Amino acid sequence: MKPLLLLCLILPLAGCASLNRLGPDEREQAAGRVYVVTGASSGFGRGVALRLAGLGARVAVAARRREGLQSVAAEMRRAGGEVLVVPTDVAHADQMQHLAQATLQRFGRIDVWVNNAGVGAIGRFEEIPLEDHARLVDVNLKGVIYGSHIALRQFRAQGQGTLVNIGSVESEVPLAYQASYAASKAAVLSLGRALNEEIRLSGQHGISVATVLPWVAATPFFSHTANYSGRAPSMIAPDDPWQVVEAIVWVSLHPREELPVGWKAWGAYAAHRVFPDLSERIAADVEHRAQMVSGPPAPSTSGNLHRPLTQAWTVEGNAQPGTAPDAGRKAAE
Ligand SMILES: NC(=O)c1ccc[n+]([C@@H]2O[C@H](COP(=O)([O-])OP(=O)(O)OC[C@H]3O[C@@H](n4cnc5c(N)ncnc54)[C@H](OP(=O)(O)O)[C@@H]3O)[C@@H](O)[C@H]2O)c1
Repeated sequence: MKPLLLLCLILPLAGCASLNRLGPDEREQAAGRVYVVTGASSGFGRGVALRLAGLGARVAVAARRREGLQSVAAEMRRAGGEVLVVPTDVAHADQMQHLAQATLQRFGRIDVWVNNAGVGAIGRFEEIPLEDHARLVDVNLKGVIYGSHIALRQFRAQGQGTLVNIGSVESEVPLAYQASYAASKAAVLSLGRALNEEIRLSGQHGISVATVLPWVAATPFFSHTANYSGRAPSMIAPDDPWQVVEAIVWVSLHPREELPVGWKAWGAYAAHRVFPDLSERIAADVEHRAQMVSGPPAPSTSGNLHRPLTQAWTVEGNAQPGTAPDAGRKAAE
């Protein structure tokens, strides 16, 4: 009975996976809009910035790596986009404030703010150094709170605006060996839900908060993540990062409180709503085998948590993530 019910839930939701495509209507809506995108030097953020440039939006790109931002800006300009480069560490409220001010000075308003920057930490909770857990929360949660606070103040003054926060399927389904990451992403989803209620109660209908919940996707995230598991980070059936990029841009134009991306994220999200304990156990068992038992050995690393890494100014990730993440380290600019 239970598997049948699960199937009945998953199949219609799987159809939702194909609803986030960008067409001519979205091009018209995006043209001229002003976006702020954090974490734009690689992965989803870079893809979103490139896609927006192609749609004619004006975009402020932020991350720690200036060269990564300059390279995406050059590509965006070649696509005819207007872009502002603002090197920013999202864990510092003053740098986030500077990002907003520089954007307003250049473009005059902010229509969409995308809190995408994020970091990971894999391993048994107590074997990950406490300073790594703390830094992860500084980036993944405090960074999102800083960005959300700045964006909502600006949106209230303008009377309109869309905040897009990048959560994860782990916002809904917590995963073993990624405990503080899952906690930070659950907090991001909860923040968005609470903010939407505050906005509703204030009657400002032009403002909304969307949280995007991607499945695992093959970005450089798995070369960047802190990892104390003893094995290379596992990616279980990863999605194409461009599918997530499309969904982020789509939801910025059609805000939804929460948007799982693709059928795997939709299925996990729905299954967890109906069978929370069972789906957590299945996810943990699969992750245990993939991350802690099989897979090539890998040295411990704090990844890009405290300092950015040089490699991977790309949307797509490395085919063999995590095997030498400390190579090519470079101080933040
Ligand atoms: N890939 C996945 O499987 C997956 C799945 C679900 C959710 N997500 C989420 O998606 C978001 C983007 O990740 P991704 O997959 O695109 O990985 P990524 O390629 O590692 O991108 C992360 C971005 O965040 C930036 N960043 C990291 N720390 C920062 C800081 N302190 N201040 C400013 N920028 C910082 C990085 O640039 P710098 O190093 O230059 O600062 C980079 O541009 C993250 O929030 C992640 O948690 C990813």
